[in-house]
Amino acid sequence: MSKYEWIDHTYDVVVVGAGGSGLRAALGAAQAGLRTACVTKVFPTRSHTVAAQGGISASLGNMGEDDWRWHMYDTVKGSDWLGDQDAIEYLCRHAPDAVYELEHWGVPFSRTPEGKIYQRAFGGMTRNFGEGPVQRTCAAADRTGHAILHTLYGQAVKHKTEFFIEYFALDLIMDEDGACRGVTAWNLEDGKLHRFRAQTVILATGGYGRAYFSATSAHTCTGDGNAMVLRAGLPLQDMEFVQFHPTGIYGAGVLITEGVRGEGGYLTNSEGERFMERYAPSAKDLASRDVVSRSMTVEIREGRGVGPKKDHIYLHLDHLDPDVIHKRLPGISESARVFAGVDVTKEPIPVLPTVHYNMGGIPTNYHGEVLTKRDGNPDCVVPGLMAVGEAACVSVHGANRLGSNSLIDLVVFGRAAGLRAAETLEAGARQPVLPADAGDNAIARLDKFRNAKGGTPTAKLRDRMQHAMQANCAVFRTGEVLDEGVAKIAEVFKAAADIGVSDRTMVWNSDLVETLEFDNLIAQAAVTVTGAAARKESRGAHAREDFPDRDDENWMKHTLAFFDPETGDVRLEERPVHTYTLSDDIQYIEPKARVY
Ligand code: FUM
Repeated sequence: MSKYEWIDHTYDVVVVGAGGSGLRAALGAAQAGLRTACVTKVFPTRSHTVAAQGGISASLGNMGEDDWRWHMYDTVKGSDWLGDQDAIEYLCRHAPDAVYELEHWGVPFSRTPEGKIYQRAFGGMTRNFGEGPVQRTCAAADRTGHAILHTLYGQAVKHKTEFFIEYFALDLIMDEDGACRGVTAWNLEDGKLHRFRAQTVILATGGYGRAYFSATSAHTCTGDGNAMVLRAGLPLQDMEFVQFHPTGIYGAGVLITEGVRGEGGYLTNSEGERFMERYAPSAKDLASRDVVSRSMTVEIREGRGVGPKKDHIYLHLDHLDPDVIHKRLPGISESARVFAGVDVTKEPIPVLPTVHYNMGGIPTNYHGEVLTKRDGNPDCVVPGLMAVGEAACVSVHGANRLGSNSLIDLVVFGRAAGLRAAETLEAGARQPVLPADAGDNAIARLDKFRNAKGGTPTAKLRDRMQHAMQANCAVFRTGEVLDEGVAKIAEVFKAAADIGVSDRTMVWNSDLVETLEFDNLIAQAAVTVTGAAARKESRGAHAREDFPDRDDENWMKHTLAFFDPETGDVRLEERPVHTYTLSDDIQYIEPKARVY
């Protein structure tokens, strides 16, 4: 018998993660009368959604004409034709209702003089299928994620979601037939271990930005659900597509919202030139993020960066009316003051492209059901398992996400998952008895690290991994640099055999938490860099200098990556992009050159 004892629970639905998508999914399931638990590593309102600034996209048309079909066109183009068009149609068609729902639940959106929801311009968002900028991004000043997260948490509590707060999810409980039956978790406060049996587990564990050294992501963004999926023998999709946000504060990595450029801010180089006019003559500073990040990197490489080392770029908003800054951008004014010592009404902010978002993740359909490849069929639903939010790859963002399409993804697909659970599950239905060894995998892994007495601290391994990803899987890539990255990550994986964890307790053991997180991150780093080395084209955020063009003939396909946690080996397969829409009256948007 194990020295650990399980505390067992049974729910209809267990959501792992309490960010925007997890709370929205939990709320939907609870509203449908399903007994719903939400297991979360941090207090819900500390989830990373809280840091989302600029807004949530939806074609409300409050600031001029708009149409969800234009939003769909922009999203397909933004994805560089790697997004699944059925899912993109679903996202854009349902976006306005999802925003009105948030408004009715109490999100304090900024307002127009007539009292409508205020909307600002964001990169790649256009009117009439690419003609010119449109104001589509609904904002609560520059604290939109904060406003949404707090509102959703209140609603989830009101609808009797049961929260398990500061519980670290360990592993999925999978049965012999490949169905998910539940999830295991460690209560950080008292050290006890819990087994949650559920008809459906919904993973809403966010991205893994902390595989990199400099990221806008919170330190908690370690992709724990993604890694659980890999350990269950399931694939992750399109992991090579990592978004660099153009405007992280130089040196600190803290986000300065794209909403700054949406309100009229612009970038300059050491010559004071608004260089985006050369790279994106029409959209300029509001081109999509991949385009802006690459342009900034070229400017720096060619010697036109600013500062003593000429290694960053300036973002100006000093020409804007201080009232607009005060009203629409109060949060970033404070961030710039605290992290860069800059008064934004007088001086530019020093910025640099910084890791911000993972387009890749757990493959799902537009209902949120997790997919895997079985017997050659890449769209097999994994019974009992769903994923939403940044953890998921639906795929609506394809090779590059447009700013403000993340918050809308959270609530549209969080809602879709709740609806699907309501449609397919019966409240209180009998569930199979868990096998006696359910959760043994989690205990073995926990024990391995808890008793790890090697000579290498976790922090050292994490540092090596983060620097390797930063140097070898960045904005621009080449085969040589990526192959070196694959080798470096494999070395770090091997070096982890000598990991040392100093604290052996189970209560608030941050050393053990960080070690489990590192173990999660290294698996994701491996599939990311291996996928990037294999994809021999440039598409969206994946810019190969040795293969500068998009190659639709050979590469318009999703990557599926499987990982062996024993050896660290990565196996790549593929899945076709969905080149169909959901409705007969919506045409598939044919690929073409992507210019802004
Ligand atoms: O720039 C921003 O406010 C970030 C938004 C997003 O990533 O969607």
